Amino acid sequence: MYRYKCLNPIAEIGLKRFTADYQQVDDIREADAILVRSAKMHDMELPDTLQAIARAGAGVNNIPLDLCAEKGIVVFNTPGANANGVKELVFAGMLLAARDIIGGANWVQNQAWNPDIAALTEKEKKRFAGSEIQDKKLGIIGLGAIGVQVANAATHLGMEVYGYDPYISVDAAWNLSRSIRHTYDVEEIYRECDYITIHVPLLDSTRKMINRDAIAKMKPNVVLLNFARDLLVDEDAVIEALDEGRIHRYISDFPNTKTVGRQGIILTPHLGASTVESEDNCAVMAVKQLQNFLENGNIRNSVNYPNCDLGTCETESRIAIYHRNVKKMISRFTDVLSDLNISNMSNTSKGDYAYTLLDLDAAVPQELVEKLRSIDGVIRVRVVK
Ligand code: MLT
Repeated sequence: MYRYKCLNPIAEIGLKRFTADYQQVDDIREADAILVRSAKMHDMELPDTLQAIARAGAGVNNIPLDLCAEKGIVVFNTPGANANGVKELVFAGMLLAARDIIGGANWVQNQAWNPDIAALTEKEKKRFAGSEIQDKKLGIIGLGAIGVQVANAATHLGMEVYGYDPYISVDAAWNLSRSIRHTYDVEEIYRECDYITIHVPLLDSTRKMINRDAIAKMKPNVVLLNFARDLLVDEDAVIEALDEGRIHRYISDFPNTKTVGRQGIILTPHLGASTVESEDNCAVMAVKQLQNFLENGNIRNSVNYPNCDLGTCETESRIAIYHRNVKKMISRFTDVLSDLNISNMSNTSKGDYAYTLLDLDAAVPQELVEKLRSIDGVIRVRVVK
């Protein structure tokens, strides 16, 4: 029996995938796995029994990734599962910046009492006129699942699209329309683009990447869009540039006391992935990944451990070893298991951490499991089967 705890509401379509072998629990101390959306986990006490955390979404800045890696807790996310939802809101943001739709709609709302509204509309509408996004230049910083979708859709709307991502994956590159100008210099985006949207994860290296320096290099009247994470942008610098008339609009999905109510800033309440479809996709993907990990030891889309997949175990037993990515580990494991036949194995690594799956023709005696655990550099050993 596997036990899981949901720290946030997770779409039913995902939870329904759990079979009778799974039980939802209230107490985190009983959980083998956690499903989470936005709950902040940095200060939570994580029990030693916890095996995995699945984030129903892309960003993982609410989860203590290093601590989890050290405790042998595999953290998953669901890249791409909500990309369409976010993409659509990015275009809504662009259109809200290009035309005064909010001002116009508010004006109409305030005329509810007015019997002359139809006639007055034709007189007043010029106050809310704007421009079109077709033929404008859009710069996309970060070409992951969301960035690629925004880029491709923008070409269909007649925008000239520049993309920047020094770490673009092969998959993303395959999916990117050939009409996108792939730049190796983010400053080209600052110099050239009328709209700039960021789609990178929040890391120490990306924190406040849109700062005074970056803004100073941008085209006058640029529109900045942030549907990724608030801390990617130095909002003091944005407010300063807005006050000086150098930025036309800042559109953000992350309201706070600094930005709310400011002229030139349009805020939505973190709605990017809040669609039925995105929530369903994220829940299904998160649950499938958890099941594959708990039942087979396979890792797909982890952010702190490497991908590793041996399919379903066809032999008598399977052992998963989480360990440091250092030399001689495999020979130590095979030494301990030298009396058993290893019929299949996979060893993969990600940064400082590595993961080894071993399929064996016989059950591994508990004393050998303990021996594996005692090897210097081993973080966790799990008997999967
Ligand atoms: C994400 O990181 O994908 C979003 O923040 C998801 C969400 O809204 O929960």
